[in-house]
Amino acid sequence: MLGSGGREHALAWKLAQSRLLAGAEDKFYAAPGNPGIAEHARCIALNVTDHDSVIAFCEEEQIGLVVVGPEAPLVDGLADSLRARGFAVFGPSKRAAQLEGSKGFTKDLCERAQIPTAGYVRTVSLEAARAALDTFAPPYVLKADGLAAGKGVVIAETRVEADAALADMFGGAFGEAGAEVVIEEFMEGEEASFFALTDGSTIMTFGSAQDHKRVGEGDTGPNTGGMGAYSPARVLDPITRGEVMEKIIGRTVKAMADEGMPYSGVLFAGLMLTREGPKLIEYNCRFGDPECQVMMMRLESDLGELLYACATNSLASVERVKMRRETALTVVMAAQGYPGTPEKGGAIDLGNAEQAGAKVFHAGTLLADGHLVANGGRVLNVTALGGNVTGAQAAAYAAVDAIEAPTLFCRRDIGWREVARETA
Ligand code: AMP
Ligand code: GLY
Repeated sequence: MLGSGGREHALAWKLAQSRLLAGAEDKFYAAPGNPGIAEHARCIALNVTDHDSVIAFCEEEQIGLVVVGPEAPLVDGLADSLRARGFAVFGPSKRAAQLEGSKGFTKDLCERAQIPTAGYVRTVSLEAARAALDTFAPPYVLKADGLAAGKGVVIAETRVEADAALADMFGGAFGEAGAEVVIEEFMEGEEASFFALTDGSTIMTFGSAQDHKRVGEGDTGPNTGGMGAYSPARVLDPITRGEVMEKIIGRTVKAMADEGMPYSGVLFAGLMLTREGPKLIEYNCRFGDPECQVMMMRLESDLGELLYACATNSLASVERVKMRRETALTVVMAAQGYPGTPEKGGAIDLGNAEQAGAKVFHAGTLLADGHLVANGGRVLNVTALGGNVTGAQAAAYAAVDAIEAPTLFCRRDIGWREVARETA
């Protein structure tokens, strides 16, 4: 398994329980891993941008399945390099990973396959972008085309702000990712995340979640990678989920196959639930972080079997995904300074946070002389189950309060939309 965040700790925890690993637990490797992952896998150093070195390791160790956690190696074609040498890989090819790697690519695909999404224009120069803005009304949605670590989207309330943001983007604020800018119609509604597994033809619903992207309580302040999540997202009612599977996921998987770039792996749809129904905001070609943590907390199926089936075109022969009926909720504990420059090295004492069944996933930690310290922006993902969001929230914050970590902070309102609905 490749990766080192809270998402990968949650994946490693479930993979370690897989029947596929029975009797071969010592053959489960993570690169680079983290102190939490090290409880389940042997952590090794591998340069994932050097495909030959990854292949050499896999050949040496006769690796039966490679699970890629983050998007960058997928967009970079690591899955293709490994498949060309006969390895089973969970994660899409370079061409298929354009669904996350290029916003323009995805918008064009949506248009060809009639997938509901916001209207858009692709622009490759400041002049063209400014001219295109005339055809949109505020708020203006501006997106750098390529990967920008979640920071490539600007929502501008006024034309002046929009013009300034465009100048930034074409001025190189996002490097190569900003050489093209997509301008979109603003969609109004509540956001939710939906996950499906596919081997390129068979599609299986995996689960749903709701993330909290802003750093501050009440969804204020700058965007982050995600400050907390819960699963399932009940705003995605059964009828809406059916619509998402048919009109968004199904059409996408079919179009990708028809166009000669079949998508395999997990397809993560960021959705806006509008008055006209669910619409696609964006695709990601990997599990969400921290959405993965709450889904793994609920997962009853054998994760190894599911991911292996995606990697080997055999999803049709696997039973549908089973999840516990309870709600899982995770609170991200981040280092002071995040999402700017986080303070590193703060001491962490997990105390008895896991005593009542909560799970603390490591997202950015390090063992220094045997002591756990903060080593990233998002540091811990404190995850708990409950009968509903209100119950899971109480259990997660009880676990947060058992942790001694003076340099970390968290939002105290994760799940607030659903808690309000539950108490209404
Ligand atoms: P993205 O990186 O594409 O997920 O965009 C980041 C955030 O910007 C999303 O989570 C939404 O909150 C918001 N956003 C993106 N596109 C739109 C849109 N067309 N209309 C309204 N909000 C959007
Ligand atoms: N939490 C949002 C993401 O993983 O993209």
